[in-house]
Amino acid sequence: MIYPIVKFGNPVLEKPSEKVTVFDEELQKLIEDMFESMYAAHGVGLAAPQIGIGRRIAVVDVTFKEDPSAKLVLINPEIIHTEGRHTQSEGCLSLPEFRENVSRPNRVTVRAQDVHGKLFERTGEELLARAFLHETDHLNGKLYISHISALKRDLMKRKIRKLMKAGEW
Ligand code: NI
Repeated sequence: MIYPIVKFGNPVLEKPSEKVTVFDEELQKLIEDMFESMYAAHGVGLAAPQIGIGRRIAVVDVTFKEDPSAKLVLINPEIIHTEGRHTQSEGCLSLPEFRENVSRPNRVTVRAQDVHGKLFERTGEELLARAFLHETDHLNGKLYISHISALKRDLMKRKIRKLMKAGEW
């Protein structure tokens, strides 16, 4: 099932999500749906709040279907180590059409649970590191625009308000 993507303005995106404690078939189905929804929206990462579900689940595939082994499920993820700094243009499915340069650590280790509840650690660089940080932020109720200047953020919010008024958001 493909879920519609929740856009900026919906409070679910700015609330910390709830920890996952039950690893059952329903969770597996939700994760399948999250991958399907992410690909349908042409994204390389998706967090559950972005489909209106406030649970600590994210899916990532920075190769966008090219490498099946790159499909990653992060449940209850925590960033445990960061290194370096890298600035790159970043976007979010919940803020369509917008992109901004965001400075983030360049090498990141995440600790998370898999679909069966098993703990694992994974280190990523560049785009993968950025995805770990971006998606973990989502689960903490934080969007990438919290990492840009207040001036740029306000400008973006003004544009979004205009789009909302025009019924185009
Ligand atoms: Ni996002």
